[in-house]
Amino acid sequence: MAATTTKKTAAKTAAKKTAQPKPAAVKKAAEEPAFTGKKKILFVASEATPFIQTGGLAEVIGSLSKALAATDKFDVRVVIPLYSDIKKEFRDKFTYLGNLYVHLAWRNQYCGVFSYEKDGVIFYFIDNEFYFKRPGCYGYFDDGERFAFFSRAVLEIMPFLNFYPEVMHCHDWQAALAAIYLKTNYCFREEYQFIRALFTIHNIEYQGQYSLDILSSLFDIYGKYQYLVEYNNSINLMKGAIEVCERFSTVSPKYAEEIKDPYYAHGLDPIIRNNAFKLRGILNGIDDVGYNCELDSHLFANFTPDDMSGKAVCKKELQKMLNLPVKPDTPIISMISRLVSHKGLDLVTNVIEEALQDDIQLVILGTGDYQYESFFRALAQKYPDKVSANIVFNGDLSRKIYSGSDIFLMPSKSEPCGLSQMIACRYATVPIVRETGGLFDSIKPLENGYTFSNYNAHDMLYVIRQAVKDYKNKKEWSKLRYRAATSDFSWRKSAKDYENLYLEMLK
Ligand code: GLC
Repeated sequence: MAATTTKKTAAKTAAKKTAQPKPAAVKKAAEEPAFTGKKKILFVASEATPFIQTGGLAEVIGSLSKALAATDKFDVRVVIPLYSDIKKEFRDKFTYLGNLYVHLAWRNQYCGVFSYEKDGVIFYFIDNEFYFKRPGCYGYFDDGERFAFFSRAVLEIMPFLNFYPEVMHCHDWQAALAAIYLKTNYCFREEYQFIRALFTIHNIEYQGQYSLDILSSLFDIYGKYQYLVEYNNSINLMKGAIEVCERFSTVSPKYAEEIKDPYYAHGLDPIIRNNAFKLRGILNGIDDVGYNCELDSHLFANFTPDDMSGKAVCKKELQKMLNLPVKPDTPIISMISRLVSHKGLDLVTNVIEEALQDDIQLVILGTGDYQYESFFRALAQKYPDKVSANIVFNGDLSRKIYSGSDIFLMPSKSEPCGLSQMIACRYATVPIVRETGGLFDSIKPLENGYTFSNYNAHDMLYVIRQAVKDYKNKKEWSKLRYRAATSDFSWRKSAKDYENLYLEMLK
């Protein structure tokens, strides 16, 4: 099979890393479908559903590209690395388009190109086993080199595919170098000169920071461009992308404001403020077909906003499954989250025992820092009739929890957008959120949820108690959860905002 041959070639290349293989002649991928009259958009990202996912980024890449393609105005393509964790069931369907060699400083690395079309979007996969044949996506000592190779490959495959996008839309630090290489090297070549770069920050916490010592030897950035990526005596790839791109954006309007402030910016606030004239905030949507209480086959029972009888079944079965007493009138408060500090867990650990004095049940799903994992395990042991701690990542169970609970708690300290509060609404579970980032933009008090403003445990407790009290008022509660379930979190509006942003960039 072509894929196997490619892997062998990659392995050989990796072994002979210092050898300088002759670059393969650039061929054009003959079977490329033609999309005429549409604006050409290339997403550059490190993950995308349904192929590979570690967080919300992947969902946005998968669902936004699909929504843009559905407008029929854009020829949308996505490029991601071919990680070995991408399941065989997908790989078997990929088409091998060919291979080329990618230069990066003294390296000359094999780059296989695969493609797959889904929902009107063409996905490209960059194959190099030396960099991507490892479990997971990130967390390796050479992540900088891996994503430098990937970013360079993105620019090098353009002549190979004969596809030069009008907007190259790069997401998060792993794709920052694609924008940097475009604006420092490639834009001097005729074919690349009209490509605009948009850089989207999904989380400003991860910036891609490296020692300046490897500027040219690893990142292949010339000394004259050091000023673009240099920040606080280090290389900062996110900073570099912000400096070079025509526009940059965040995943909610509120977060676009927040990151001008040191409290949220993880050190980048001066850069954000200096470049604020080209910053936009566009709220993410979710795939409202994928998250649909009427159709979702993971649920114990389906239901609609107008007929919630199935939701009662979901709740009962969830209580049974998690060994909680089956009590239809006891509200279930759930959290589905990475168990890390910025998700607001310090607030929860502080006051949850006070909250448990009321007649409630608490369901936790997620993994993360040991201190929180062990806190919730101990809590479940202490309150076996009230608390279920599921310290795992499980997509099926998450949908059963979203649909079977009454209240969804998301008290993040910061949240660029957040998708879980929207998913909870889709399953008629009323969110309680802190007013930050996309939580502020998507959840409005008493319209479709509860909010609190200060990062304060007792402010949160007050709102939890309010929600638990309101839950007893069946008539009002059913109106509130109806409004939550019918809130519009589809991509329709936000895809339009991206459309306008692309058109603005192309003027
Ligand atoms: C990151 C952010 C999250 C956002 C997601 C998709 O994971 O932390 O808030 O929803 O990206 O943009």
